[in-house]
This record gives sequence, C-alpha cells and structure tokens, in this order.
Amino acid sequence: MKLAIIGVGNMGGAVCEGMFRKGMDAHYQIMASDASIEKLEALKAQYPKLEITTDNKQAAKDAGIVIVAVKPWLVKPVVEQLQMSENQIYVSIAAGVDFAQLESITGLKNQPMFRVIPNTAISDQQSMTLICKCHTSPEQEALINELFGCLGRILIIPESKMAAATSISSCGIAYVFKYIQASIQAGIELGLTVPEARLLTLQTLTGATTILSEHGEHPATEIEKVCTPGGITIKGINQLEHDGFTSAVINAMKASM
Ligand SMILES: NC(=O)c1ccc[n+]([C@@H]2O[C@H](COP(=O)([O-])OP(=O)(O)OC[C@H]3O[C@@H](n4cnc5c(N)ncnc54)[C@H](OP(=O)(O)O)[C@@H]3O)[C@@H](O)[C@H]2O)c1
Repeated sequence: MKLAIIGVGNMGGAVCEGMFRKGMDAHYQIMASDASIEKLEALKAQYPKLEITTDNKQAAKDAGIVIVAVKPWLVKPVVEQLQMSENQIYVSIAAGVDFAQLESITGLKNQPMFRVIPNTAISDQQSMTLICKCHTSPEQEALINELFGCLGRILIIPESKMAAATSISSCGIAYVFKYIQASIQAGIELGLTVPEARLLTLQTLTGATTILSEHGEHPATEIEKVCTPGGITIKGINQLEHDGFTSAVINAMKASM
C-alpha cells in the first residue's frame, strides 16, 4: 500500500523517520511531499527508499493512507489540492483542528478520517500517540492502530478528550525535557560535568518510569520510599512544593489546552 506524508517538518519528519527505522518500508511504499526540497532531500539521503516530491497531489495520488502534517492554518489549502477520494484514509496530525472543522474547511464529507497526535519520540518508536476516528470501518481502524502501534504506545480516545490528552503527552514531552534541562543545570552548579549530570538525570528518569510502568504503583508510594524522616530527600520534596512545582506543572498543562 502507498502511504503519503504531506509535510515533513518536525512531526511529519519524525513520523517518516520512525517508519523507516522500524522497517515499515517493507510493507508500505512511502512517499513524502513538502514545500522544502532541502528537507525532502535530507530525509532521502538517510532513507534512500523514500520517494519524494514537492507536488502534494502527486504524493496523495493512489495512496491508501494520506498523513497531513502541516501547520493547522495550512490544512485547508493543502487538503484542497489533494483531491482525495472516499476510499483513501485521511490522517490529520494538526493539533486543535477537530473533525467538524476539518470537514468544513476541506469540504470532505464522509471521508474516513483519523485525528492522530503523536509526540516527537515517534522518530524512535517511543511515541505516546492519541487516535480518534470519524467515518471509519473496523478494518481501517485496525490498520491505523497497527501502523501507529508500531511506533510507540497508542491511546484511542473520543474527540472530546483530545485537547486534554494532547496537553499531557504531546506538549508534555516538552515539559519533561524542561525538567531534564533543569536537573542538568542543577548538577553543573553542584560541580558535576555536563556528561555526568546528563547521565544521572536520564537514567534516573528511565528508572522512575520503569518502576511506575512495571509495577503500577502510585507515584506517592514511590516518593515515600525515598523520603527518610528527617532526611535530605524530604527536604528537597518540600522545597519543590514551597516553590510551586505541582501548581506549575498543572498550570502548564491547563495552559496548553
Ligand atoms: N511538533 C510537534 O511536537 C507536534 C505534535 C503534535 C502535532 N503536531 C502538529 O503537526 C503539524 C506540523 O507541525 P510541525 O511542528 O511538524 O510543523 P513544521 O515543522 O513547520 O512542519 C510543517 C512542514 O510542512 C511544510 N509545508 C509548508 N507548507 C506546505 C505545503 N503547502 N505543502 C507541503 N508542505 C508544506 C513546511 O515547510 P516550510 O518549513 O518550508 O514551510 C514544513 O516542512 C501541526 O499541525 C501541529 O499542530 C505537531
């Protein structure tokens, strides 16, 4: 089956990389289009089997799946060019553009459509990808779930939860990076080298997420295990609260909705 990716910037490019790194070119003929020939050529240099074009219509022609990953305000002009038929699956990666808007701005009616919101870890098959659907058959749902399921974890949700979920996982990856950056900065101030602070931070994060995902514990239980009464960790935890850590995270996620 031919699969088209329209727009290979940060997100479309990460989807494309994830697919090739996973070896999905064995199952799909993957064609990418973008306004920038430089971006296309850079991807092709890495993945020679990728077919490239600056003609969006050519990319979408005869594709079973068309993934559109351009900025939300470009969805209308780009999708109008594609002249999609109802036997093609339209996958929209535009954050914040709901099905009603997609139908009204693109003129597509009864088109099998998915809204898919990965995060940038899709390039390494570690995405948390949100999926909701409209006018789709069980076979089309299975196809899209399997496709994105190969590139990380998926959560199928109703559209009403899409904005909240996008904030936690798609915007949320940036907040995690922010925590990592802060931890490395702290390590440097405390006299560690950048590689030392980076290793300590990343492996600690991996350990924490492994504990929670493997054992299903509540984070509070794990925090309690680390906090000796009168010890140094509880002092740091309380300082985080004095400085508004929990509120800052909640406010950031609410601001991203
Ligand atoms: N980045 C994320 O983490 C993330 C997460 C979830 C969802 N999304 C969604 O993904 C979409 C893309 O975001 P992004 O961050 O990847 O943006 P981006 O980096 O700007 O990528 C968009 C790409 O589309 C290209 N483009 C512009 N006009 C085009 C046209 N007429 N035809 C074909 N390609 C065209 C751009 O080329 P030029 O740069 O030359 O204009 C660029 O390479 C957005 O709708 C966003 O809401 C992003």
